[in-house]
Amino acid sequence: MGSTADAVNDSVQFSLVIPTYNESSNVAEMVEQLTSLLTGFVPGGYELIVVDDDSPDHTWQVAQALTRDYPHLRVMRRQQERGLSSAVIRGWQVAQGEILGVIDADLQHPPEVLLELLQATLNGADLAVASRHVEGGGVSEWSIVRRFLSRGAQMIGLVLCPDVVGRVSDPMSGYFMVRRRAIAGPTLNPLGYKILLEVIGRGSIGSIAEAGYVFQERQSGQSKVTWKQYIEYLGHLIRLRSGDRASRVKQVFPTKRFIRYGLVGLSGVVVDMAFFYWFTEQVGLSLVLSKVIAAEIAIISNFVGNDVWTFADITQRQSGWQPRLKRLLKFNLICLMSLALDVLLLQLFYHFIFNNSLKYVANLLAIGLVALWNFWINVKLSWRVTEVDRRLR
Ligand code: GDD
Ligand code: MN
Repeated sequence: MGSTADAVNDSVQFSLVIPTYNESSNVAEMVEQLTSLLTGFVPGGYELIVVDDDSPDHTWQVAQALTRDYPHLRVMRRQQERGLSSAVIRGWQVAQGEILGVIDADLQHPPEVLLELLQATLNGADLAVASRHVEGGGVSEWSIVRRFLSRGAQMIGLVLCPDVVGRVSDPMSGYFMVRRRAIAGPTLNPLGYKILLEVIGRGSIGSIAEAGYVFQERQSGQSKVTWKQYIEYLGHLIRLRSGDRASRVKQVFPTKRFIRYGLVGLSGVVVDMAFFYWFTEQVGLSLVLSKVIAAEIAIISNFVGNDVWTFADITQRQSGWQPRLKRLLKFNLICLMSLALDVLLLQLFYHFIFNNSLKYVANLLAIGLVALWNFWINVKLSWRVTEVDRRLR
């Protein structure tokens, strides 16, 4: 691989990889900011490694030219391989430090946070992650859709790989550092965009620290994320599941149960829609009343489906009408909160967004959004429920 990384320095403690693809307009500013920041903090003891995938805009050339002024900068130009995760791994492979880090080249990751991460690592953390979802963290001007996609991806991750994705508040982060020995043994799979998942999933990570950061707007250049990365991400989760840890995950969260849960949920949509139609068109009830009754009927039918089918193995051990009634009340209580949201959303869509038309589309949208919200609560609750149930047996 056309690597031009050759400088060697014994005292290097910290190696920071900067993956680039068409970042020629950002790389100089990035190197300059990182240098002035780190030189005061780890004098002489760090290196910056730009890993560029033969960018058409010649980022590698721009970076190479910088090495004259910045002797701690190394540049790797890859011509055989492509991809963010593999770039990071290749960079770490030539790195000399005991602490390995990664940061985006486009200044969307504020460099100052590096010092917090580094401090946490020096204090003993195996992994220090910059997070948008802890105090001091956030995103700058993201659209609702983008926030939604980002959180949705995290939720799916929580379901498929809870003991990987659930360990950090921002599993999508591409801004973190890790102790070399924590990831030295296992082979890291270089596919996909989200190298942090691989580090947590395959490494032996003990303590984890997090530092809040605000994801900045891109000032220059373009994002490389397309729908393809979402597909790859799903594939990545599935691969992580089939690794060693997967067997444990499966015991706690069987796929079969989850599929059943989803099917029961879908049947609830049909029930809700049918009764909603019947009450508004045939019986002539108001929009709100029709919705409330239709949703309540769907809740009860969902409960029955889950109780006798999805969780049949558990409920068999707790038969009788009293425990069943208790479960129904609990289930209903959670759903009532969702119901309030459901009505609110239906009103919002029907009256304010669709101008008193498209009743069924409005209802479908309301159901869909509430399903996601419900899903989120259930991801959190199912865990506790599962554990309690296990102890009861
Ligand atoms: N070498 C190499 N090869 N670098 C790449 C490639 C590639 O195929 N694809 C992207 N990069 C580099 C970019 O040049 C940039 O420095 C960094 O990886 C991130 O790419 P962006 O395209 O800017 O990603 P983003 O800003 O949309 O997404 C970021 O979102 C996360 C937060 O949700 C990711 O970069 C994550 O790192 C970040 O934390
Ligand atoms: Mn970016």
